Amino acid sequence: MIILKTPEQIEKMKKAGEILASVHREISKMIKPGITTGEIDRFVEKYLKERGATPEQKGYQDYPFATCASVNDEICHGFPRDEKLKEGDIVSIDMVVNLDGWLADSAWSYGVGKISDKSQKLLDVTKKSLYLGIEQAKVGNRLGDIGYAIQSFVEEEGFSVVKDFVGHGIGKDMHEDPQVLHYGTPGRGARLVEGMVITIEPMVNTGDYRMTIAENGWTAKTVDKSLSAQYEHTLAITKDGPLVLTEQNEDIDTQKEE
Ligand code: MF3
Ligand code: CO
Repeated sequence: MIILKTPEQIEKMKKAGEILASVHREISKMIKPGITTGEIDRFVEKYLKERGATPEQKGYQDYPFATCASVNDEICHGFPRDEKLKEGDIVSIDMVVNLDGWLADSAWSYGVGKISDKSQKLLDVTKKSLYLGIEQAKVGNRLGDIGYAIQSFVEEEGFSVVKDFVGHGIGKDMHEDPQVLHYGTPGRGARLVEGMVITIEPMVNTGDYRMTIAENGWTAKTVDKSLSAQYEHTLAITKDGPLVLTEQNEDIDTQKEE
C-alpha cells in the first residue's frame, strides 16, 4: 500500500532532508587520502545528534552503523571501517536521517584525491542517471518511465545497472511501497500521483551488473570486481513536478579546498 503524504508531512521530511544534505556537504570536505570510513561514520552520528536527529540505519535489521560506506567494487551496504582510503579510491556514503519521526534517505559517491578517468566517468554517469530518473518523476508518468530513463542512459554509456537493489517509498518507515526499479519499460508500472514520496538510488557498475554478498552478510560487491557507484535522493511528487527533499544547495563535487 502506498502511503501518500500531505504537504505538511512533506515539509517535515524536507527538514530531515536538509540536515542530510548538509552532512554530505561536510563529508565532501573530509574525503581525502588517509581518512577512514569509520571516522566519517562517527562524525555523522555526532553531527546528527547535535541537530536533534538520529541515524535511522543504525539498528535497522541489526545493521550496526549510522552509514553505509561502500568502497570501489562494493555496491552498497559497505561497513564503515578503520582502514585508510587511498588516492584513487571511490566511496559511496549512504544514510537515512530521522528528524521527529520523519525520514530522508540520500547516498552520494566521492572520489578520493585524484581518480582515474574511468572512475570519474562512472561517477558522472551515475549521478546524471539519477537526475534523468528524477526528471521523469511527475504526476501521470509511471514508475517504468523512471527506470527506463536511468537504464537506457547508463547502458548507452557502456555501464550496467544493478538489479538486486531498488528505490522505495519512504515516510515514517525507511522502506514503504512502491519499489522503484532502476530499469524498466516506459508506460509500465504504478502511476505517479501527488503526495508520493520515493527514493531513486541507482547503483551503476563499470562491468557486469551481478552482485555477491560478502562474509559480513550485508555488503554487496560486484561479481567481476568492477567498480560501482551510487547516488540517491528522496523526492516528493508534487503537482509542480518532482521536489527533491535531499538536494544540496551547492555543487559539493567541485568545491575548492579550504
Ligand atoms: N539507505 C539504504 C536504502 O536506501 C538502506 C540501507 S540498509 C540499512 O534503502 F540497513 F543499512 F539501513
Ligand atoms: Co534508499
